[in-house]
Amino acid sequence: MFGADGAALQNAGGDAILSVSGLQKAFGGVQALSGMDLEVRRGTVTGLIGPNGAGKSTLFNCMSGVIPPDSGEVHAFGRNITGWPSHRLAPLGVVRTFQLSRELGRLTCLENLMLAPLAQLGERLLPIFLQPGAVAREERALYAKACEVLEFARLADLRDEYAENLSGGQKKLLELARALMLDCELILLDEPGAGVNPALMKTLEEIIITLNRDQGRTFLIVEHDMDIIARLCDPVIVMTEGRKLTEGPFDLVRRDPTVIEAYLGGVA
Ligand SMILES: Nc1ncnc2c1ncn2[C@@H]1O[C@H](COP(=O)(O)OP(=O)(O)O)[C@@H](O)[C@H]1O
Ligand SMILES: [Mg+2]
Repeated sequence: MFGADGAALQNAGGDAILSVSGLQKAFGGVQALSGMDLEVRRGTVTGLIGPNGAGKSTLFNCMSGVIPPDSGEVHAFGRNITGWPSHRLAPLGVVRTFQLSRELGRLTCLENLMLAPLAQLGERLLPIFLQPGAVAREERALYAKACEVLEFARLADLRDEYAENLSGGQKKLLELARALMLDCELILLDEPGAGVNPALMKTLEEIIITLNRDQGRTFLIVEHDMDIIARLCDPVIVMTEGRKLTEGPFDLVRRDPTVIEAYLGGVA
């Protein structure tokens, strides 16, 4: 699937494991999604870009069970998952990273990872586990796995550090590490580059590439930083005004006059 130089080949990837069709979502008078279509093919690192207000976050929220769409459908791994809450998606193999909440900030990195699978039981039960010492009583398998993931995510030295004390980049690593505790094939990342210094971004990119190439995990990444998109993603999907504008390798997409116009329109 990858060329000798490591670059993803054009149109790489297998069957569509995530597909969105005709998705609509309005907030009052604002049509955030107006017939969005999208497919993510197995084995790809697919990028999702578009000017501010294009609907990227709304799309992510509708795909990952945060808010239900008004109409349209979301399918993953052959199932209609429209409107499913996030804790039902993980067992199916779909997970998205979430910004660490204030509560999780008061837990250590190790505790955050050990909690990740338990959090899938649903938010209703989560408070039971959000007590000091609660995760320490959890079983060994979970502990062993958390240590393995900490090592992989290069967070081993920070295992007993409180999450709220981590730098922006380290928090992103921890968010991804939490997702890895769930063994999902498809990982949705919302702006992995935001607030991350270049050195840690390089680490994060290496981890994403390893997860993709060596472990066969598929990614859908929303990102503002075009350098990150250029390095990681193929194909790249461009959305504007709540729907898909075009899709293709970044080098082609960036030169597409309709894409340039969409971005300039956003600036004006
Ligand atoms: N919760 C909300 N309430 C009202 N309007 C919203 C809400 N979320 C998003 N919008 C509006 O929907 C549109 C798309 O927003 P968003 O999905 O955040 O775009 P992007 O992530 O691409 O910048 C924008 O006009 C935004 O103001
Ligand atoms: Mg957004």
